[in-house]
Amino acid sequence: MLSLGIESSCDETGVAVVEDGRWIISNIISSSLSLHQPFGGVVPEMASRAHLEIINVLVRQALDQAKVDLNKIEHICVTYGPGLVGALLIGVSLAKAVSYAAGLPLVGVNHLWAHIYANFLSDKKSKGLEKQTAAPEFPFIGLIVSGGHTCLVDVQDFDRYQLLGQTEDDAVGEAFDKVAKILGLGYPGGPVIDSISKNIDPDAVKFTRPYLKKDTLNFSFSGIKTQVLYYVKKEFGKILDKADSLELKKNKQAIAEIAAGFQEAVVDVLVSKALKACQESGKKELVLGGGVSVNSRLREKMKPACGEKGIKLFYPEPGLCTDNAAMVAGLGSQLYSKGRLSGLDLSAQANLGLNL
Ligand code: KG4
Ligand code: ZN
Repeated sequence: MLSLGIESSCDETGVAVVEDGRWIISNIISSSLSLHQPFGGVVPEMASRAHLEIINVLVRQALDQAKVDLNKIEHICVTYGPGLVGALLIGVSLAKAVSYAAGLPLVGVNHLWAHIYANFLSDKKSKGLEKQTAAPEFPFIGLIVSGGHTCLVDVQDFDRYQLLGQTEDDAVGEAFDKVAKILGLGYPGGPVIDSISKNIDPDAVKFTRPYLKKDTLNFSFSGIKTQVLYYVKKEFGKILDKADSLELKKNKQAIAEIAAGFQEAVVDVLVSKALKACQESGKKELVLGGGVSVNSRLREKMKPACGEKGIKLFYPEPGLCTDNAAMVAGLGSQLYSKGRLSGLDLSAQANLGLNL
């Protein structure tokens, strides 16, 4: 069974072909990131336009790379929320048009659950080989850490999720992005903070771990961003300017120590709350998803913490942590098998939240 997946919720346009909900046959991604970089964040109108310009080409490429035609595709799956409404609209409109023209069933997919589904995907090349990795088993705890969301969920099935906790303000990826801006590191902040923090003492600059002592599975990341802001203003008299390369060079070590201290605080909170969710619910598997799940320090600290408690940890391949269409096709195929189809009245929903 071949599924065609379409993703356009933010600045990545993705089209993929997935076989039997598991094997990635093609997974094409085009990012408009470079257009947004001068503005320090995604500009919604520009993201929508970029999707519109490229999405047809990507459908062709994904089919060509998979060496199939539309008549070999069984259904079409599309992210319909949450995300930027104009951006979502491009993917949803295209999927509806293809569904109508080719007579293919349509499946609307929630982007958040697709991030968790990335853990169920494998490269087609590994099909039938020993290196095949095991997939998570229901029920498990999911931790979604992305630019727009941070939440802990009890995942009972591909269409049954129960929210256990979420951020009360900024998402964790958003905090990485804002802190990077304060440090003059540019956008997006996660990858650069991750990379400059390597081999830096994470305790050289210490920030308070937000919400760690509170008896809740909720998160809060806006306070730590403000802590960093005050610290930087005290140290340098102002926030740092990305364009002032001399200043950044001169303060390289100090900037890396602040970045590493911030990352450590955030990672400590994520590890502690995820383990708390597993212990409280008695779950023995923890599954990560979303752009921040590629963070090396998060993985480094989560592995032994889970090992100590006998919890099996899953995280996606690096290329499947950030937005992609393979995860949409994969989850869509599971929903299709459960008869959860959408009609041509499917609409883009910016605030879809945790709904199916
Ligand atoms: O899942 P994603 O691609 O898009 C959303 O659905 O939001 O996540 C993007 C977020 C950005 O905030 C980016 O800074 C963050 O993921 N990110 C990282 C890393 N790579 C990307 N955060 C921390 N460490 C990384 N290595
Ligand atoms: Zn995402």
